[in-house]
Amino acid sequence: MEIIHVSAECYPVAKAGGLGDVVGAMPKYQNKLGHIAKVVMPMYKTKFLSDNSWDVVHKGRTNIGDYWFDYTIIKEQTNKLGFDLYLVDINGLLDREKVYGYDDDIQRFTGFQVAVVDWMSVWEHHPDIIHVHDHHTGFIPFMIKHCYKYQHLQNIPTVLTIHNAQYQGAMGWEMSYLLPPWDSWKYGMLDWNNNINPLASAIKCAWKVTTVSKSYLEEMKQSANGLEALFEYEKGKCVGILNGIDFHVWDPATDTYIEDHFTVPDVKEGKQKSKRLLCERFNLDEEKPLIVFIGRLVGEKGADILPGAISDSFYYVGRKMSFLILGSGFPEVEDQLNGLQRLSQNDYSVYIGYNEALSHLMYAGADFLLMPSRVEPCGLNQMYAMRYGTIPMVRRTGGLRDTVVDYGEKDGYGIVYNWAAVGDITQGVWRAVDLFEDQEKVGAIRKQMMQLDFSWEHSVQQYLDLYESLLPLPPLEETGEKDGKLHDG
Ligand code: ADP
Ligand code: GLC
Repeated sequence: MEIIHVSAECYPVAKAGGLGDVVGAMPKYQNKLGHIAKVVMPMYKTKFLSDNSWDVVHKGRTNIGDYWFDYTIIKEQTNKLGFDLYLVDINGLLDREKVYGYDDDIQRFTGFQVAVVDWMSVWEHHPDIIHVHDHHTGFIPFMIKHCYKYQHLQNIPTVLTIHNAQYQGAMGWEMSYLLPPWDSWKYGMLDWNNNINPLASAIKCAWKVTTVSKSYLEEMKQSANGLEALFEYEKGKCVGILNGIDFHVWDPATDTYIEDHFTVPDVKEGKQKSKRLLCERFNLDEEKPLIVFIGRLVGEKGADILPGAISDSFYYVGRKMSFLILGSGFPEVEDQLNGLQRLSQNDYSVYIGYNEALSHLMYAGADFLLMPSRVEPCGLNQMYAMRYGTIPMVRRTGGLRDTVVDYGEKDGYGIVYNWAAVGDITQGVWRAVDLFEDQEKVGAIRKQMMQLDFSWEHSVQQYLDLYESLLPLPPLEETGEKDGKLHDG
């Protein structure tokens, strides 16, 4: 099968969060199983762009409304990521340093999608599947079905993966002029609550919809930032498939971001060395259990309750543990977390910003990873942590619910609590401190977690089965049927 992934992010080219990790890994594993998976994404101004060599494979001209633009498709020359990577260059629109966060993001991502479909429309062959990810690529299923210019593509099956339904890309109807001329009877395929909603449109128009964990799919029927009824209505074509993690990038035995590698037998010594590096760098007491948080400092991740939970933990549990936070996001949360630094007694530090290398060292050196998420469609951090022998402390939601079993339960290994609330986190911290005193138990849990299988192999097979179900049936002769009748025996 030839599968074209279209995404705003792909690690290591450009990553803002887990979407990048997933799109950087899944196609590689699909190719390993003998398929041809490719990635198409915007050409941002990244280090990856300048460090690598590219071939120009197509030049075209198209428009969003009355803005006409030239676009260029370039392809990475060596296939070094394990899949063919294509970047869409639209001068002035996409070639910027950040992935998101510009005032004209609507125009940027609509322009990107129009260019992608325009390019595909001149291909001599049709791919078997177009797989789009999140709302930034959500117009593609609609465009293929209902834009007059692209209707020769309408038989190509489309799959939407929802990594996060909180973000939907909604815009007023006055923006409809950005799309190539479309069948106005299909107005309802773009609309949700009197707005154009690219995520809702993709849920309506894609042939299949996947979410990145089973629990998240169930939760979205109750709470999906306004799309609940749509999920209920479209549930027949929705499937939850848990993400995997890239075992080559995230392997404590070979991780290129850390110095002290380790495997299951020497996990204790290996982690201790990375912990020492962290504690020296951030002025933390190495003897205490180290609890870290890595992630976007936004409400979804429960970041706003971190300052309160950390202060309360020091107050109620005592100064028996250290905290180290890595992230960026809401300025007020950043300020509060920075403010806590003044109260540190060698037991608290924060790094505001994005730092890939530091994140790897933290997964390796921490004892516990805190994830008090309000919403967590899958969550990769907890799986990375477990691969590095770090015990996750998670709220029971979405993918966290599907991947972490409380150590108090049979065969459990993590710390799980019900609410994204200061009290629940503080109690989790108390349990972490208590557990840490039993080093034998901690050692056993680390070894158990490191051997859990969160590899992509399993998940990729589920995607392939899903794609298969969308392909046209083979001609009758190949199925053994002739003249409309099955042969005996
Ligand atoms: P989300 O995509 O919702 O942010 P995930 O758990 O799926 O959450 O993935 C987050 C990814 O981003 C992980 O690879 C995590 O290590 C990384 N990450 C998040 N914040 C930072 C940061 N400040 N520095 C480095 N890596 C980060
Ligand atoms: C989103 C979700 C996160 C998920 C990631 C990759 O950003 O917030 O839970 O792990 O996508 O699918």
